[in-house]
Amino acid sequence: MKAVVQDTYGGSEVLDLRDIAKPEIGEGDVLVRVRAAGTDVAGQVEAVGTSVTRFRPGDEVFGSSKHLGGAFAEYAAVSEGALAPKPTNLTFEQAAAVPMAGYVALQALRDHGKVKAGQRVLINGASGGIGTFAVQIAKSLGAEVTGVTSTRNVDLVRSLGADHVIDYTKEDFTRTGQRYDFILDNVANHALSDLRRALAPRGMLVPNGGGFDHRWVASGGRLISAKVSFAFVSQSLGTFIVSPNQENLVVLSALIETGKVTPVIDRTYPLSETRHAIDHVGGGHARGKVVVTVSDGVTS
Ligand SMILES: NC(=O)c1ccc[n+]([C@@H]2O[C@H](COP(=O)([O-])OP(=O)(O)OC[C@H]3O[C@@H](n4cnc5c(N)ncnc54)[C@H](OP(=O)(O)O)[C@@H]3O)[C@@H](O)[C@H]2O)c1
Repeated sequence: MKAVVQDTYGGSEVLDLRDIAKPEIGEGDVLVRVRAAGTDVAGQVEAVGTSVTRFRPGDEVFGSSKHLGGAFAEYAAVSEGALAPKPTNLTFEQAAAVPMAGYVALQALRDHGKVKAGQRVLINGASGGIGTFAVQIAKSLGAEVTGVTSTRNVDLVRSLGADHVIDYTKEDFTRTGQRYDFILDNVANHALSDLRRALAPRGMLVPNGGGFDHRWVASGGRLISAKVSFAFVSQSLGTFIVSPNQENLVVLSALIETGKVTPVIDRTYPLSETRHAIDHVGGGHARGKVVVTVSDGVTS
């Protein structure tokens, strides 16, 4: 099969499209004929392991592949528990955009934030892969949602249901005097003291990775300092590593099939241009999700 292979450490330039063997599946795995991939996969079941009970060949599915990046290929091995039936109203491209970004948004808002109707929620980086899901999921939980983005994405974030949109090129949300019950920070471009100023007295901050200016999240030592700084106040810090799971996929499917959540796709790239897709995401200004499509007879 054709697959994008990485032999050495490096950026997107080390990625190579090659012929390799189809992945082996274990007894609890499903072999998926990939139709679209991001960090995730959507496609059709090709074969199932001996203990798989929920899927059979031909089923249309979506979920998280076993190995990071393992879905940039014509076939991917996926654990049965990391798959669910594809939402009926989505294309494969849309479905491949859902799992990881959906897990992060759902786990941050529902599980860690325990966001309730009427609470004031702010999503920093509201127009990105995770932010576009977070705005819609926060609205589905009944929150009053503020999205932070740049001028070109203000209309997009409003169209996702945000009650308020702050254009970060014109206004700094940490200096408006508004305070939020929950902040999901997908950008990490503010100092912790500034973020705390924008939090309500019992508010929660979930810093979600972040790769730009203020790297206090990315550094383990600084994260510990951040945790210490929250230890003596009523505000809380909700750090977590996302964990893929089937229950989340089923909840996300229900939100999608009832029209409460619609994936936003920035661009799609063919498998042979996976490195361009990765470079586009790496730029930090994706508008929703970037998806790689896989079709029969893909060429390099
Ligand atoms: N917790 C986890 O387990 C987990 C899992 C996956 C990813 N992550 C992390 O989550 C973070 C977000 O991922 P993502 O996929 O959503 O990123 P993304 O798709 O690259 O989105 C970035 C978004 O941030 C916006 N942005 C850039 N600068 C901004 C600023 N100064 N203020 C407000 N918004 C700004 C951009 O909008 P404009 O173009 O309008 O600037 C863009 O829409 C990443 O750091 C990633 O590593 C964490």
